[in-house]
This record gives sequence, structure tokens and C-alpha cells, in this order.
Amino acid sequence: MPQKPVQPAQPGVQQLPRHVAIIMDGNGRWAKSRSLPRPMGHREGVKAVRRVVEACRQRGIEALTLFAFSSENWRRPKTEVSLLMDLFVHTIKKEVEHLHRNGVRMCFIGDRSVFEPHMRALMESAERQTADNKQLSLVIAVNYGGRWDIAEAARRLAAKAVAGEIRAEDIDSDRLGQELSGADLPEPDLFIRTGGEQRISNYLLWQLAYTELYFTELLWPDFDDAALDEALQSFAGRQRRFGRTGDQIEQSRRA
Ligand code: IPE
Ligand code: IPE
Ligand code: MG
Repeated sequence: MPQKPVQPAQPGVQQLPRHVAIIMDGNGRWAKSRSLPRPMGHREGVKAVRRVVEACRQRGIEALTLFAFSSENWRRPKTEVSLLMDLFVHTIKKEVEHLHRNGVRMCFIGDRSVFEPHMRALMESAERQTADNKQLSLVIAVNYGGRWDIAEAARRLAAKAVAGEIRAEDIDSDRLGQELSGADLPEPDLFIRTGGEQRISNYLLWQLAYTELYFTELLWPDFDDAALDEALQSFAGRQRRFGRTGDQIEQSRRA
């Protein structure tokens, strides 16, 4: 389905990102540092999710994408994987009403084909119920990988070309971008990774092309409103150039 065009990010200094994408990392280390089992870290991480969703909504951020489970996280011990899946299902069930009342639109990105039917149904029902909400789009990446996303988009375009709906020579980066997850949202303006690692871990590879990156040593369960405000403050001090020179940006600001 063709997406309606989304206004691209403008060069210059912006006060507030329209879209924030977060890698919520450090739950395990948070638990370990307290001699607690890793699941306790994940449970505490859910509290941080609740805080940050509400804080983003209050600050007028349009979209928040959270990395809940990567396509590589299946490599973890079976017990941790199943704990994470249970926590995911439990949290969606518990939170959807509250989010809906607060005008939050929920959607999920990632490969759902591997999930049990009850889990897929839960995700679809949360999406359906909250589809018309306008306060904040909350995107949850689950069994998501940036390479999978790009490969899926390429596969869909190839299928359209084979079916004669498009010509191979019509495929360009705009066309491919429209097939990616989250194409109905502005691209992330600000990326935050907690937990101290400075890597992308197969998150939104394409979508992050011009995103401002922010890394913090804070472990995800410790991330709160003040930590979010620090990241937002860092963003507000940056000049986004998109290939132009700083002088060009200054000139167009004065014009
Ligand atoms: C992030 O915390 C949560 C998920 C990946 C699901 P981790 O579980 O990766 O925490 P650390 O990196 O081991 O501390
Ligand atoms: C990235 O965290 C995935 C999520 C937060 C869901 P990881 O903890 O899995 O990342 P790596 O393996 O350290 O790169
Ligand atoms: Mg980690």
C-alpha cells in the first residue's frame, strides 16, 4: 500500500525530536550489580518503559520506537528468551487500556511469522484498538533486525516487479524506504542507547542514516525523565546539516 508522504527532517537546530528511537540496554547488568537474577532486571526495565512512554507523550514527541527483542536475541538461553516473551505478552495485556486512554497508538515492527498465534493476535488487537490515537505513536520492535527489514522491503519490491506492478528501474531509495517498517512515521531524529555500548546492534539500519546518536552509561532500568531530558538537551544543541555546510544552515536560518 502506498504510504502518504512524510515531511522529511529539516536541516538546522531543532528543539524537540519528532521521533526518538531507543535501544534499551543494560537490564542484565542492572540485576547483576544487585546480585539479582537477570529477569529482575527485565522486570525493572518495564517500569522504565512506562516512565519514558509517559514522558515522551507529555513532551509532545510524536513517535517513540523501542527495541524490545532483536532477531539475534534468540541466541540467549532458552529460559531467558521465554521469560522475555512472557513479560512482553503480560505487559501488552496489562498496559494497552491505559495507553489507549492516554491517546497512544501502538504498533509492532519485526518478523511476527515465528510467534504463536495468540501472541500475534494480541499484537494485532492492540494495534487495531489504538489505531486512531494521535498523542504518541509507540512502536515496539520485537524479533526485529535492520537487515531483515531491508531484505523484506527488497523482496516486496521484487515481487511487485515480477507481477508487473512496477518496473525494476523505478526502484530507488525513496521507493525502498517506503516499504520499510515505520515508513508512515518521520525517520528517527534522535537515537538513544543506554548501557554504555556504542553500537547499533542491527536496529533501524536504514532509518538511522541521519539520526543524531546519543549514548549513555546509565543502565535501562535507571533511565528516567531526567535522563531523557538530558538526551533531549543534547539533541537541541546539535546542528543537523544533511551534507550541507554549517554556513549554509546559518544563512538559511537568517533568511
Ligand atoms: C536489554 O538488556 C534487554 C534485551 C536485550 C531484551 P540486556 O538483557 O541486554 O542487558 P545486559 O546488556 O545483559 O546488561
Ligand atoms: C540490543 O541489545 C537489543 C535490545 C535492546 C532488544 P543487546 O544487548 O542484545 O545488544 P548486543 O548483543 O550487546 O549488541
Ligand atoms: Mg545487552
